[in-house]
Amino acid sequence: MNELLNAAVPLLLEWYGIYKRTLPWRGTHDPYRVWVSEIMLQQTRVEAVKDYYRRFMERFPTAQDLAAANEEEVLKAWEGLGYYSRARNLHKAAKTIAEKGFPRDFDGVRALSGIGDYTAGAICSIAYDQPCPAVDGNVLRVLTRLLADGRKIDDQKVKSDFAGELKEVYPRQAGDFCQALMELGAIVCVPNGAPLCDKCPWKNICRAHLAGREEEFPVREEKKARKVTPVTVLVLKCGDLFALEKRPDSGLLASLWQFPLFEGEVSPESYGRVIKKQGARHIFTHIEWHMTGYLVETLSCDPKYVWRTAEEIKNNYALPSALKAFIKWL
Ligand code: ADE
Repeated sequence: MNELLNAAVPLLLEWYGIYKRTLPWRGTHDPYRVWVSEIMLQQTRVEAVKDYYRRFMERFPTAQDLAAANEEEVLKAWEGLGYYSRARNLHKAAKTIAEKGFPRDFDGVRALSGIGDYTAGAICSIAYDQPCPAVDGNVLRVLTRLLADGRKIDDQKVKSDFAGELKEVYPRQAGDFCQALMELGAIVCVPNGAPLCDKCPWKNICRAHLAGREEEFPVREEKKARKVTPVTVLVLKCGDLFALEKRPDSGLLASLWQFPLFEGEVSPESYGRVIKKQGARHIFTHIEWHMTGYLVETLSCDPKYVWRTAEEIKNNYALPSALKAFIKWL
């Protein structure tokens, strides 16, 4: 057992008891609610998730309600959160849960669609108080600083070593401990800029802080630059109707509806009369879109697109956030 980590546990729990934020998914052990919150919180900031989570829970209060919905409804509730495969997997897993009940252990939870080691650990810790570590980038930052551990955190082996060490010190209040590690990473041991070490329950034991080296951790592989892709977006207007097309069913933004969209530069004049033009950028994990959007009045509704009124599009179609800059033209 790592003695420093072991000594850190009660300090962290005490701090969490006093300083934890009130968040809409805290204070429940319902595995369905914990699960939805953890999926939404993947790659998405807490502040951005709060309102989505509340609305989603009103609309789909149980796994049965979610399982009974159709996919467009689920995507609509997810619209703007991004990474839509999360919503599709959630919907798929809800059907399994509606039939068999929510799994009660790590392997069962891990086997649901869209759930990896981190999320399965978080759900079992928070919903069931089981000693199942959940190690993500935030937790790695906190732990590598505490232990002044200079190993590269991109390495899966390093991640699983930390999970193994955490498991040995897991306290009875597993859910609180799991969330306390996340909380420390979110509000004290922050990334990008100086952490707030004077507010940290570990300030007297953190090896990185005691050596004045907290910003040297975590250590990672050098990041590859994102690929920049020029994209042309055509908001085609034909009378009161606007054109939509569906994206391919795999890859980036799979199966989402969008305005006709092309990689590269496309001349809008061949579609009709250009009324407006605007640039916009959107950053995905590995790709950056540099978009040029045009509002174009066309004379005929090309049947290769689906044509809908502005109202229908706003109410019934989940468009990717990347296109937000052009929705105002509807
Ligand atoms: N990030 C991931 N899971 C979280 C949780 N349960 N609370 C706060 N932030 C989180």
